Amino acid sequence: MTTDLWGDLPAPGGDAQRVDALRAQLHEHAHRYYVLDEPTIPDAEYDRLFRELHALEAAHPELLTVDSPTQRVGGKPLGQFASVRHTVPMLSIRTETDTESTGAQNFDARVRKELGLTAADPPVEYVAELKFDGLAMSLRYEHGVLVQAATRGDGEVGEDVTQNIRTINQIPLKLPGRSAGPPQARPAPLGGILRQAQDDRDSEVGSVGAIFPPAVMEVRGEVYMRRADFEALNEKQRELIAQGAKGEKTFVNPRNAAAGGVRQLDPAIAARRRLSFFAYGIGDITPPEEGGPVFENHLQLLLTLKSWGFPVAAKTALARGATELIAFHQTIGKTRDALPYDIDGVVYKVNSLALQKKLGFVTREPRWAVAHKYPAQEQLTTVLAIDVQVGRTGKLTPVAKLAPVFVGGVTVTNATLHNEDEARRKDVRVGDTVIVRRAGDVIPEIVGVVPPSGRPEPVEGSALAEGPGQAQPGRGLQFTMPRQCPVCGSDAVRLEGEADYRCTGGLFCAAQRKEAILHYAHRRAVEVDGLGDKLVEQLVDANVIRTLPDLYKLGLTALASLDRMAEKSAKNLLDALEKSKQTTLPRFIFGLGIRHVGEATAKELARHFGKLDAVMEASEAQLLAVRDVGPIVARSIRTFFDQPHNREVVEQLRACGVTWQEGEPAAVAPQPLSGKTFVITGTLPTLSRDEAKDRVEAAGGKVAGSVSKKTDYVVAGAEAGSKLLKAQELGIAVIDEDALLALLG
Ligand code: IVH
Repeated sequence: MTTDLWGDLPAPGGDAQRVDALRAQLHEHAHRYYVLDEPTIPDAEYDRLFRELHALEAAHPELLTVDSPTQRVGGKPLGQFASVRHTVPMLSIRTETDTESTGAQNFDARVRKELGLTAADPPVEYVAELKFDGLAMSLRYEHGVLVQAATRGDGEVGEDVTQNIRTINQIPLKLPGRSAGPPQARPAPLGGILRQAQDDRDSEVGSVGAIFPPAVMEVRGEVYMRRADFEALNEKQRELIAQGAKGEKTFVNPRNAAAGGVRQLDPAIAARRRLSFFAYGIGDITPPEEGGPVFENHLQLLLTLKSWGFPVAAKTALARGATELIAFHQTIGKTRDALPYDIDGVVYKVNSLALQKKLGFVTREPRWAVAHKYPAQEQLTTVLAIDVQVGRTGKLTPVAKLAPVFVGGVTVTNATLHNEDEARRKDVRVGDTVIVRRAGDVIPEIVGVVPPSGRPEPVEGSALAEGPGQAQPGRGLQFTMPRQCPVCGSDAVRLEGEADYRCTGGLFCAAQRKEAILHYAHRRAVEVDGLGDKLVEQLVDANVIRTLPDLYKLGLTALASLDRMAEKSAKNLLDALEKSKQTTLPRFIFGLGIRHVGEATAKELARHFGKLDAVMEASEAQLLAVRDVGPIVARSIRTFFDQPHNREVVEQLRACGVTWQEGEPAAVAPQPLSGKTFVITGTLPTLSRDEAKDRVEAAGGKVAGSVSKKTDYVVAGAEAGSKLLKAQELGIAVIDEDALLALLG
């Protein structure tokens, strides 16, 4: 494409020509953007052209046409869909459930037999396509203009969903015509369709450009949703639900989301769904005797559709005989998870249309096509229990125990529910029937609960769509995270701003043993030379060590009896342990593995308090006075030492002879802001809101979220809004960051 043809040329004359020129440009750019994924102009330029067209159409309503790019959205909500009788029925395909190579062999053998071919005859030529997991659609074009889009329905009668389908940017509203000028009649490049489909076929391909859309043509294909668009949609839905929006729900898979979008009565909602389309065939078409095109084979048909602007999957190939069908099935099977959309198999079609005709149909299925499946990625099963597992770092994870089910190629008995919010959002309960999805090597996931029969599935927008937490007779209890660690009984807490609950019994908890010992023995913590990953694994698994103090009770005999442990290494480890007893307070504090207490914080704590007991007894407020300790860290330290088991371990370590030099507490930091309440608003020049808050609190002040008569100072930064106004109204002192720093001293 050169700019000469598509540059923003002035209209040769009058608004009508300008409108035509704008539409042609917008059609072309939309095709480049949505179908070819190769935009040639910036989005802003597209928007500018679009607005210009819109303005011209508003000024001259007589120039408005249904195929104008401005008409994708704008239809009024319908009361119901009208029925559409398909002129040519929409067939289904026979499914080969044998997911092994034999599936392709059986099909090829059947075709050869029907055609009366013998082993001496050459291989049959097929087109191998992807089997998209969406919903079938028939798009009717009359004189190049999209006039109707209908769902498959029962194959004979479907529903008129034209308004919604027009919102799909990948679907052309208008096809190139003989008179449309060179740019649109130019066939789209063939790039994309597998090379297999191109070799030695230049003449065939070259002829494609000469075929123009006939007076009547129905394009058949699949409306689907890309995985990324599906994830984004669900993310948005989750936000809406979190904000308390009524009647909103998340979608279990891209197919359901696409189907829901197509069946929206309000096209504005459908437009927000971001649906996509792949063309794979034709229905009704002007016959050759009335000037319709003559296609010789299916591939030629696909390439023609592509040249008219329809998306045709790049992973389409010509395959000769069963061997090449099997190769296609296997290649696609391997890359299936990397595709940006779901497929549930591949489709083989006899390429020659003459042979297709010869083969004909059995009931409603053509003998010339078959769908060859892959192992299902979704299955139904029952939830037997919801367990809570504790990870090495203390994270509590709800895990659904499932009745064993074969899905995505393996038997699945567990599926993670990630965290409490996620478990509640999905509202999975014991006894529920759930859909389990395992795509590729992704860990198995529960995509949703299947409502028991009698409890109708919530329909979008209906009062039945219910959020979690509502009473539902006959079901198990809603999941609640235990407040005690299921492994060691210590408190399980969820810190502000975090999604996970964590066990706070780090030193004692069996689940965290290995991690706790490794951390304690780390070079920068208490340092036990030679106590690495493998050895800790061995010691804990052999039950030689249960908690940290057990380290110092190790004897030579016990150690030397471990697998692959030479007496010399055992002796070395005992020496290292002996040496580790002489440590420093910062190393010891760091070695305890308190969440959010790294090396630097450990040093600050040691410097500030001087003695371990003082750290262990410090209140959250006192901890806040330590440099760099904010509310989250203070809370974490306090909770850790509130666990009797953790304290016990510390005492035992001391009893084992672990010692350090204690010092005097650093001069108690002055508390210049004690008793003062601050409100921070706007963007401060150097401090983040959190930093400012931490500093105020460390200096003894309080930070509140809203301005009231009790507020002493409002710290205002750039773009401070209503809080600043309120402060001025109440006559409260307003200061800037510099003044705050001065107050902090
Ligand atoms: S061809 C006569 N090709 O699978 C053949 N169908 O049961 C008509 N599908 O309803 C269909 N990908 O929704 C064809 N590449 C593909 C397909 C495909 C998905 C769906 C379609 C149809 C069902 C067949």
